[in-house]
Amino acid sequence: MGITLFSAGEIARLRRAGRAAAETLAFVGDKIRPGIATKQIDLWVREDTKRRGGKPSQLGYRGPPGTPPFPAAVCTSRNEVVCHGIPNAQEILLPGDIVNVDVTTELDGFHGDTSATFVLGGVAAASAEARHVVDVARRCRDAGVAAVRDGARLGDIGAAIAELARAEGCSVVRDFGGHGIGRRMHEDPHVPHHGVRGAGMRLKAGMCFTIEPMINLGRAEIDVLPDGWTVVTADGRLSAQFEHTVLVTKDGCEILTLL
Ligand code: MF3
Ligand code: CO
Ligand code: CO
Repeated sequence: MGITLFSAGEIARLRRAGRAAAETLAFVGDKIRPGIATKQIDLWVREDTKRRGGKPSQLGYRGPPGTPPFPAAVCTSRNEVVCHGIPNAQEILLPGDIVNVDVTTELDGFHGDTSATFVLGGVAAASAEARHVVDVARRCRDAGVAAVRDGARLGDIGAAIAELARAEGCSVVRDFGGHGIGRRMHEDPHVPHHGVRGAGMRLKAGMCFTIEPMINLGRAEIDVLPDGWTVVTADGRLSAQFEHTVLVTKDGCEILTLL
């Protein structure tokens, strides 16, 4: 259960995987528009990941025993879907929808993981509520990233996120967190998006993990749909998420999925 401290050579490969994932997410971000099906996003991610010499880590991914392998190359999580939404040819994006696109790429044996929530039709098409939850989710992710440095604690990250969410009248999903990443998509440690400052594991330069808070407009509780993957808010209200992969450094962190 040790946490990997990556060597300089491994860090170079983590950087390339992170950059590839970020570039594929940007590729989707340039093309996404109202009228497309979420299945189109899956096709774009397959095409662009392959072009970069990578593989979509999520395709066929095995979750908890008893759940089917994830059937797509990307998660597309629209409106009240919190995470792990499955792209679908019948699911057409409409102006004012919000959709999180979560890209994980394996390149040269290492993984990079990043996501963003897009507002369909531009901010003018979105409700004030949609704009708010998307804005808060992005700021929460960035507040978590800002808490990362050698010697800080995992609880510092979670506390920064949860305090901001609460101040903005939103809630933080507790059932899922960030995760260590490297030769596997999901490694130790688990990175909670709530916590107590000064508590939890101490961060060390050379650790690599994701920060990916799921922020709800209403209550934090979630349900999982019968497909075994799709996570929705229990109250049916909107949820948004942003994710970066970060490498801990002496005086802060390097965001591996920032272009
Ligand atoms: N990329 C997701 C994460 O941030 C992983 C989803 S697992 C899947 O951890 F199987 F649903 F794709
Ligand atoms: Co992740
Ligand atoms: Co992800």
